[in-house]
This record gives sequence, C-alpha cells and structure tokens, in this order.
Amino acid sequence: MSRQIGTEALVLGIETSCDETSAAVVRGGQQILSNVVATQDDLHAVFGGVVPEIASRRHTEVITLITHKALHQARVSLTEIDLVAVTQGPGLIGSLLVGVSAAKGYAATLGIPLVGVNHLEAHVMSNFIAPPGQPPSAQQLFPTLCLLASGGHTSLILMRQFGHYQSLGETRDDAAGEALDKAARLLELGYPGGPAIEKAAAQGDPHAVPLPRPRIEGSYDFSFAGLKTALARRLQERPPKTVQQVADLAASFQQAVVETLIHNLQAAAQEYQAKQLIMAGGVAANQLLRRKLAEVAQLQEIPVGFPAPDLCTDNAAMVAAAGYFHAQRQGPCSLDIDVFSSLPLVPYGQL
Ligand code: KG4
Ligand code: ZN
Repeated sequence: MSRQIGTEALVLGIETSCDETSAAVVRGGQQILSNVVATQDDLHAVFGGVVPEIASRRHTEVITLITHKALHQARVSLTEIDLVAVTQGPGLIGSLLVGVSAAKGYAATLGIPLVGVNHLEAHVMSNFIAPPGQPPSAQQLFPTLCLLASGGHTSLILMRQFGHYQSLGETRDDAAGEALDKAARLLELGYPGGPAIEKAAAQGDPHAVPLPRPRIEGSYDFSFAGLKTALARRLQERPPKTVQQVADLAASFQQAVVETLIHNLQAAAQEYQAKQLIMAGGVAANQLLRRKLAEVAQLQEIPVGFPAPDLCTDNAAMVAAAGYFHAQRQGPCSLDIDVFSSLPLVPYGQL
C-alpha cells in the first residue's frame, strides 16, 4: 500500500450497482483513458424492468472480460494501476457484490489500495471529468446545485465543496427515471423507458394531454407517483388509437416530468444563491431537460454543466473519478468493505 495517489495516478473504476457492467481507466481523476459499458437492456426488456438475480448473474459472467477490455482500450496493464475504485452502494446487493469482490481481488493480488465509492457521488462527479479531448462540463465553482435524476434516485444536492453535499430535496415515491420507465411500459414503448419516451415525444405535442405538475408546498421534495397514476387513468378512459396519440401522451408526460424537476431546481438555485447548475444521472441525458436547465442558468446568469450523455447513465469512469478524489482526501479503504442497498450521500469533507 505504499504507492502515492498522485495527479498522474491510474485508477481502475468498477461499476455494477444495477444492470450495467462497467470498467474504466481514468488518469488523475479527470482524464478518461477508457470507459467500457456492457448494458443488459436486452435481458431485462422482456420483464419491463431490472430482474436482480438475472443482473447479478450476468455481471459475474462478464466482469473479467469488461475489465480486461477497459485495460486494453486504455493501453494500460494491470500492474500499472495505482488504485481500484468500486461502487459499494446504493444498488442491488447481488450486483454490487460482484463488482466489489472483483475490485477486492484486483487490489489484494496487486497490492494496491482500494476505495469504495457512493454511486450517487459518482454521478455528481461525472460533471468534473471529461470525455477524451474535451474539458469537463462543470467548473470548480461553489455552491454548485446538482439535480441528480436516475432510475433509482431523484435529489437536489447543494455542493459546497468536493465531498460536501447537502440534500435539499428527494423524491417521496418514484424516481424521475422510474416514472419514465413506468410510463413507457403503460404506453408499450419498451425498456429502458426514458430514451423510448424521449424518442416518441419528438413527434408529439407536449401540450396535447393535460397532466398534473406535482408540488409539495414548502419543500424541495418531489413526487412522481401521482403523475404516473394520472397517465394510467387517462389511458383507461381514452386508450390511444394512433401512433400520433401515443406520441402526444409521451410528449405530455415528458413535459410534466421535466417541468416538475425544473420548478424545484430553479427555486432552490435562487434561495441558495447557486453559482453553477449541473445535472447527473440517466435522466440528465434527456435533451428537453438539458435545454430547460440551460434556460434557467441563462436567466440566473450562472454557468451550467451536464455530462456527455454516455457519462450520465451508469458508467465506471465516474466511479474512478469519485474514487480518486475520495482517496486523495481520506486515503483508501480497508479490504473488508461491505455493500449497501441504500447509502446516503453524507459529507466526508468537513468544512
Ligand atoms: O443513472 P442510470 O443509468 O441508472 C441508475 O442509477 O438508476 O439511470 C437510468 C434511468 C432510467 O430510468 C432511464 O429510463 C433513464 O435513466 N434515462 C433517460 C434517458 N436515458 C436514460 N430518461 C430520460 N431521457 C433519456 N434520454
Ligand atoms: Zn446510476
């Protein structure tokens, strides 16, 4: 464990929290040398959602291959790796165990440090790493307000520094991505639902179908369950008969989700005098949401950042980046780290 985690340190990132098996090599926490993602969408599509047992079994089958692929693409050998970073939660326990076991195996046999990463922090950090040849989308400007919207989480996070997070609002029921996935299932558009809704919505009228904009007074919390129920009721009362009607429903639903997210973000940005707005998580790949966030930032005359779409969805480059910053500040973890189905984004940097 004698190696320094310096600015040129090569970090092997491993991510298996849900249904993506991913490995990446990142230099100095910022420069992505490789970021290999194997999705399992085809395995779960038939069930309309992730089946945990199938997910963990597939992770086991491909984790070694994906890791070797990441090393090969980065032109780095295993013995050159300085640090192994792995997601330890939140996520599916069986899936997390595959990544954490592999990461422990690499760290132990190579005699290099291991760092456990919070998946939510990794999403946030995806704004501060860059695709090859490009600068990071976010600047180091604090307080930064981050909208984290994925299949499992929806939160507004105030970031006062790297490693210092304050949750301003959370979803009280479904996550934004989960709501989009459920809506896509109701509209028979396929899985994963977010991209399917976005594609259908491109041909639809976002004002065609009246849907609620759920608000929780006096709070930055979100709630999406009622919106999904409103769509289900509408489909029962007036089932769509044409492709155009499905597109109108998809566009109206997407508009309602995006406006709900943006409403709280804008209010929080004003109250907390955010100096920068960023987004993270799979839903941040949505073009309408990106446009709306940019409009808010322009209105408030502050910079905006969003990761490249392939860094929004689950990937190991963001895990390597978060692991690098964590290891630099706190040092590595012991080899007996555990996995956690839920893991709050607690600050580890004391200001
Ligand atoms: O961050 P992520 O890959 O996994 C989790 O940590 O949950 O997010 C997956 C979620 C899914 O619900 C998916 O439907 C949604 O992100 N998503 C999108 C888009 N791409 C993925 N939602 C809206 N528009 C997209 N383009
Ligand atoms: Zn995620």
